[in-house]
Amino acid sequence: MTELLRAEHISKRFGPVTALRDVSLRLGRGEVLGLIGDNGAGKSTLIKTLCGFHRPDSGRIVVDGEETTLRSVGHARSLGIDTVYQDLALVDQLSVYHNMFLNREVVRWPFLRNRAMRKLARQHLDEIGVDIPDVTVEVARLSGGQRQAIAVARSVYSARRVLLLDEPLAAMGAKEGAQILDLIADLKARGDIAMILIVHNYAQVLDVCDRVNLLQHGTITFDKPTAETSLDELTDLVVSEYRRRRATGTGGR
Ligand SMILES: Nc1ncnc2c1ncn2[C@@H]1O[C@H](COP(=O)(O)OP(=O)(O)OP(=O)(O)O)[C@@H](O)[C@H]1O
Ligand SMILES: [Mg+2]
Repeated sequence: MTELLRAEHISKRFGPVTALRDVSLRLGRGEVLGLIGDNGAGKSTLIKTLCGFHRPDSGRIVVDGEETTLRSVGHARSLGIDTVYQDLALVDQLSVYHNMFLNREVVRWPFLRNRAMRKLARQHLDEIGVDIPDVTVEVARLSGGQRQAIAVARSVYSARRVLLLDEPLAAMGAKEGAQILDLIADLKARGDIAMILIVHNYAQVLDVCDRVNLLQHGTITFDKPTAETSLDELTDLVVSEYRRRRATGTGGR
């Protein structure tokens, strides 16, 4: 499998907090990697390091075979790395369709006009099947799940190599969540895009991911194809770790 993204020995501190200690992972073309771990384990920090938002304190990032210093989110996007953030990053005062093309109009659609953007936004949202009646409405007036759908839709349609999805299902109802999972499966079926998907629901991880990595104590402690693991194993891994820490009095929430 062609490797599209590799991280080697990444570390990242925020003052006294070590969010990432020594993280190495690899991502193949067409692959969906599930990233799991407790709250505060460093998952979002890792995603934000791989998309150029945070500069790692140490370690290497290799994009499609080339070692790269990601200078900014825009730089990563120009290399085909797109991100759906946990904290969304939509602009409240802009319309749905303007948000869908935010920072993307120049990259992908240099000559697009408003009318064409409205039409494309409508078309993309209809394809996903998420119900947003009016794409000219300000995003501030939408529900949490609708906002998340827009964030996912715009990245799904602009991703060229790597798509990083940080809890894209968190605010979704059951139907909309299933639609987003279908969308991820469709994108995977295209075969040329690699994805990292952060989801807390292990059944969903097993459903759509090819491989699963567990982030604990700032490093990857478990890496297996989903075909070789199970709901029980994943749950045990996380819960037994918590029980052990509790029993030995070394932390635990
Ligand atoms: N910008 C920041 N400044 C300071 N500390 C931060 C910053 N971002 C993250 N942290 C800290 O780094 C650690 C990892 O946070 P991160 O958001 O990566 O966790 P996570 O695995 O995504 O958790 P969750 O499942 O709750 O989303 C936490 O202790 C957090 O407080
Ligand atoms: Mg997070």
